[in-house]
Amino acid sequence: MNKKITIAIDGFSSTGKSTLAKELANYLGYVYVDTGAMYRAVALFAMQNGYISPNFFDSDALIKRLPEIKLVFKFNADLGFAEMYLNGINVEKEIRTIEVSNYVSKVAEISEVRSKLVEQQQEMGRNKGIVMDGRDIGTVVFPDAELKIFMTASPRTRAERRFKELMKKGDDVTFEEVLKNVEERDYIDTHRDDSPLVKADDAIEFDNSTISKQEQFEKVLKFIDL
Ligand code: DC
Repeated sequence: MNKKITIAIDGFSSTGKSTLAKELANYLGYVYVDTGAMYRAVALFAMQNGYISPNFFDSDALIKRLPEIKLVFKFNADLGFAEMYLNGINVEKEIRTIEVSNYVSKVAEISEVRSKLVEQQQEMGRNKGIVMDGRDIGTVVFPDAELKIFMTASPRTRAERRFKELMKKGDDVTFEEVLKNVEERDYIDTHRDDSPLVKADDAIEFDNSTISKQEQFEKVLKFIDL
């Protein structure tokens, strides 16, 4: 390829954004950044400090402590991807639980949280050669990204994928719980005031309910000038 570009991958939860982003980054020799992991780590911090529970959220307390939150991705060569560290501790496993999934959209609604994370994300992508996935990458973080992809799939298809993943990890959840979480997050992510999940006008839309990972990867590669 002649020059390094920025690739923004946005879309609903469990649409396979991270699988596609990781494959593209590996293939192109780019850095991959999972911005959802950053929002999840902030939600974990809120949980650990008792700022969030099923019917309670002290967003002001979380906002006050934001300067203390240090998020770092460290590449794990054995796993082949970067793991999330919250204030020096590897939290890669903790941030993937259904409990964190249940709280993360509430945390991601807070503008102060978003501006802190967006600033860090823009810094990570300053030199291009990056594939970043999330909800606002093509609209807010990198509105000038050379390639923008927006991924969708039906809520049931996504819940089935997520349920399988959680079962594999041994999580004690029901399919109904996972489907409810997917639908609730869709609602909050698309209705929040700050940076709601919307397709950027210049993004290419993929509904991957029916196409395979391989087909999807090949289709996306066609848009990159290699
Ligand atoms: O991609 P994910 O499911 O791990 O993301 C977790 C949550 O974080 C998701 O429900 C919405 C939020 N998020 C966001 O608001 N903006 C991003 N760029 C990435 C994630």
